[in-house]
Amino acid sequence: MNFQILITGANRGLGLALAEKLLADGSFIHAINRHESVELLHLREKYPDNLQLYPGDISDENSVRQSLHKIAGQVSALDIVLNNAAVHLEQSLPLLEQVDFSVYLPTYQANVIGPLMVIKNALPLLRKGRKKLIVNFSSEAGSIGTCGRQSEYSYCMSKAALNMASQILQNAVKEEGIKVLALHPGWFSSDMGGVAAPIPPSEAAEQIVKLLLNPPGLDGPVFVDSQGDTLEW
Ligand SMILES: NC(=O)c1ccc[n+]([C@@H]2O[C@H](COP(=O)([O-])OP(=O)(O)OC[C@H]3O[C@@H](n4cnc5c(N)ncnc54)[C@H](OP(=O)(O)O)[C@@H]3O)[C@@H](O)[C@H]2O)c1
Repeated sequence: MNFQILITGANRGLGLALAEKLLADGSFIHAINRHESVELLHLREKYPDNLQLYPGDISDENSVRQSLHKIAGQVSALDIVLNNAAVHLEQSLPLLEQVDFSVYLPTYQANVIGPLMVIKNALPLLRKGRKKLIVNFSSEAGSIGTCGRQSEYSYCMSKAALNMASQILQNAVKEEGIKVLALHPGWFSSDMGGVAAPIPPSEAAEQIVKLLLNPPGLDGPVFVDSQGDTLEW
């Protein structure tokens, strides 16, 4: 695998594990991060020619635009865009009576509008890419059809909205041969996933990388799990 890949939020969690796996497999990674971590800097020491870091906040279009401008100065095309960065700001899962609405707009900004801003600014490079794949990291938490929760409004609502954005985008770019996925990566341990999760992010990343190599076709499903199987909207 020798792709030019843009990933957001590669300093920890799944983003870091994906960057590590994709670099080991021979791809070139452009990572937009708000913060650099020790682990990410170690990775850059290991792959100085294949890992480029761009400081950036996906909630801020100026910042996203600047990062993509720098990437366009490095490469003429992107093969895959991985919209991995997201927030879960209601970790205590409050019932509606206890909800603090001040975290709602920042959640939408990072989880829905941010990925769209990244795609908007990456599309010119992606159109010239070989793989032409956009992956928006969604969640089963965004499925309305299977929802049994009684709390966790902001995160679940944001992922449902990201699912809608992904389908609209798929309709819009299908004729150009660009595939869009809203991917539930499974439950894995991370700051967001917690320590009780059944698998480490490296294991989730392994499966996701297999899917990147062999994604559903343009007429295939958009909302999928990491095996590529259809999930209920
Ligand atoms: N963990 C799970 O079990 C699970 C399950 C289903 C779906 N997912 C989805 O999988 C993806 C990765 O999850 P994770 O567990 O690895 O999350 P995580 O450990 O909480 O990491 C989130 C990443 O997003 C970055 N980020 C957040 N807001 C950002 C912004 N405005 N600009 C740039 N970067 C930003 C964080 O950077 P900072 O260090 O700067 O905050 C961090 O790198 C997310 O989309 C999540 O919703 C996770």
